[in-house]
This record gives sequence, structure tokens and C-alpha cells, in this order.
Amino acid sequence: MKFYQLQPEQRRKLLQDEGLELEDIDDQVLKRLDELSENVIGQLRLPLGVVQNLIIDGQKYMVPMATEEPSVVAAANHGASIFVKNGGVSTVSHRDGIYGQIVLKVDEQFSLANLKDEFSNLVDLANQKFASLVGHGGGTRSISARQQGNLVYLKVLVDPAEAMGANKTNSILEFLSAKLGQLDHVEEKLFAILSNYPSQLTKGEVKIDPATIGGEKVAERIVLLSQIGYEDPYRAVTNNKGIMNGVDAVLIATGNDYRAIENATAVLANQDGQYRSLSKWTMKDDKLVGELTLPMAIGVVGGSIKARRDVQQSFAILGKDITSKVLGEIITSIGLANNLAALLAISTVGIQAGHMKLQARNVVAELKATKEEKKTVLNRMIQEKNYSESHAKDILEKLREEK
Ligand code: MEV
Repeated sequence: MKFYQLQPEQRRKLLQDEGLELEDIDDQVLKRLDELSENVIGQLRLPLGVVQNLIIDGQKYMVPMATEEPSVVAAANHGASIFVKNGGVSTVSHRDGIYGQIVLKVDEQFSLANLKDEFSNLVDLANQKFASLVGHGGGTRSISARQQGNLVYLKVLVDPAEAMGANKTNSILEFLSAKLGQLDHVEEKLFAILSNYPSQLTKGEVKIDPATIGGEKVAERIVLLSQIGYEDPYRAVTNNKGIMNGVDAVLIATGNDYRAIENATAVLANQDGQYRSLSKWTMKDDKLVGELTLPMAIGVVGGSIKARRDVQQSFAILGKDITSKVLGEIITSIGLANNLAALLAISTVGIQAGHMKLQARNVVAELKATKEEKKTVLNRMIQEKNYSESHAKDILEKLREEK
């Protein structure tokens, strides 16, 4: 039998026999995970944290975040607590659907105008075939096309309702491309697949009283940093990484496809041919105004969302009736919160002060010491502002000598 055909426990046994040490895993968990992916031999766990109080459009949310990076959840909480003092985040969402692409190879007699005449009929046929999606409030919305030489690029807009919609869109595209392939002067269908081009856009905006972040000077520094992020790709990519720290953590916690969102945001950041910050901070009427627009092709159903208990726990934290629109608004707001916290740290005490304290926790966690000893070591590392592993070991040694 091939490795992939084995039961997960057989795969584990094989690897263990070869001398690999594997972490223990519950049988039932292993079986469930094997249904989600391939060649499964174990699991990888991430800490799940929460942002306790995120106010969006007057509603309060608790937000789950899964990340291994110290300070990401702390930064999101810090940003969100500043938003609370300033009336929260206002959001606008445009959830028209996600794009699908079909590319056809055509001959010289092909007429684009004749093809376009078929579009409304094709949309109807797709909606009849995928009636359950229509029943959920979604459906195929439109088809458009352009021709370049002997290639025709079709763009299909599919509203996936509450799902991210990748599978459904691909099925619709394959259905449509089979019909298109039968048309006169179409030589062949080259491919039919969804496009991760930015769609389902959500904008978050905050208006901050400078007094709530340390005064006008701090606000001005944030505006300047934002301008630098607009002009300079070296800063822009780091600014955007800070945003994605928060965004990815919620995407992962909610079982969403963070690779799709990562790549779509990269397109947004590069819109005018230069890579720029996704966020913008300006002064308007004595307020620091922060804006962030993100592509939020995400879902609250579909994929493995219902099948994963860890993900269902995240939805329980968010509130069971959360829609994909609201989840997109939450994720965008978290991105803005992480961005503000990072800009604040950079423009005041510097990032390392907070980061290293949190990093010290990882160092201390690795020590072979009691809970009490670890607590004392951590406190001393913070007091002495020395966060290295060797210093942690020195402190522990001294501590034991003192006793
Ligand atoms: C670190 O993970 C993220 C930051 O570098 C983001 C930023 O510089 O804006 C702090």
C-alpha cells in the first residue's frame, strides 16, 4: 500500500519505526484530521487568544486570534481599546461576489460580440443548475469578456452568499466552460478556475482624538510614518505585515483561506504599479483618521468550517449568527488595530520594548524550572531589560544559589 493509502496510525507507526519521535495524539482527533487533509500523521497547534472588546458600527465583538507570534494579540487589544475610546470603527462592505476566470482559445472567425450575446442565457443556465446557491441568496451574477489575439478572457462574477465560495465557483466555471467549449469557433477551453483577484472589499475607518494616544505630536508622527509607508516599499511591506499579523490570526482562527487573502492584499497594495501601505493615516479636523480597505473573500460556512471543532469554538466566541460581511468587517478592523498599535510603538518607545518582554516569555517557558522560578526569572529579565536565553539561565542559577 502507498503511504497515502494507509490509516493515519499506520503512517505514524511507519515513521516511528524509522526512529522519528512523534507527539502523542488522541485517536479520535487523528481520525478527524485525516478526513480534512492528506498524509496526516499528527497535528500542529497554535495558541488561541482573544480581543475582548472591538466596537464596530456600534456593536461589540470578542474576536478569536490564532497566532504563535508574541505581541500580535496584545497589539490588537491595544489598538481596539483606543478605538473604543473613540467611538469604534465604521465600516462599509461591498460584497458583490468573487471572480472566476475562463480562458478560451478561438479561431479567426470568432466574434466576441456573438459570444457576449450568450452571456445572459449562460448566467440563467448556471443559476438553474446551481439553484441551491441561489436559494442561499447567492448565484452567478454576470459574465464579461475581452479578447487578446486568439485568446478570450472571460470574467465571471459569482456571489457565494455566506461561503468563501471557491469550490462552488469552480464548479460553476467548469459548467460554463463546458457550454462555451461547444460554441462555434471556440477551439478549446484553456482553463476555468476562480481568480483570487481582490473582491468582497471591506473598508474600516477610525477617527481618533490625539489626546487618547499621547497628544498631537504622536498623531503627527503616525501621519508621517503613514506617508513614508506610501512612498517607500521597504516600509510599506513591513506596515502591511503588521496589518496581516492581525488579519491572518483571525482568518486562521475562523478556518478561512489566509493564502487567498494574503495574495489579494498584495495586489491591492500594488495597484498603481508601486507597492504601498494598505492603510492610510491623515489629520482631518483635529482628528487622526485611519483608513484600511481589504479584500475579504471569506466565509462563515463551507470548506472545513463546520467540520472543525476548534473553528466552531471561534465562531462561538464571535457569536453564532455572525455573517461573512460582519466577519470581514471584524477582520479589517483588527488589521487596522494592529497597524495603529505598531505605528504607536514605533513612533514612541520603539517596537522592541514590548516585543522583547513578550519574547522573554518564550525563553522562560523553555527553562527547566518550577512555575514560581519561571515567574521570578521573567520579572528579573524585564527589570534588567535583558531578554536573552543565557541571561535567563544565569538568573535561574543565581536564584537557586540564593536558596
Ligand atoms: C511585527 O510583526 C510587525 C511590525 O513590524 C509592523 C510595523 O512595523 O508596522 C511591528
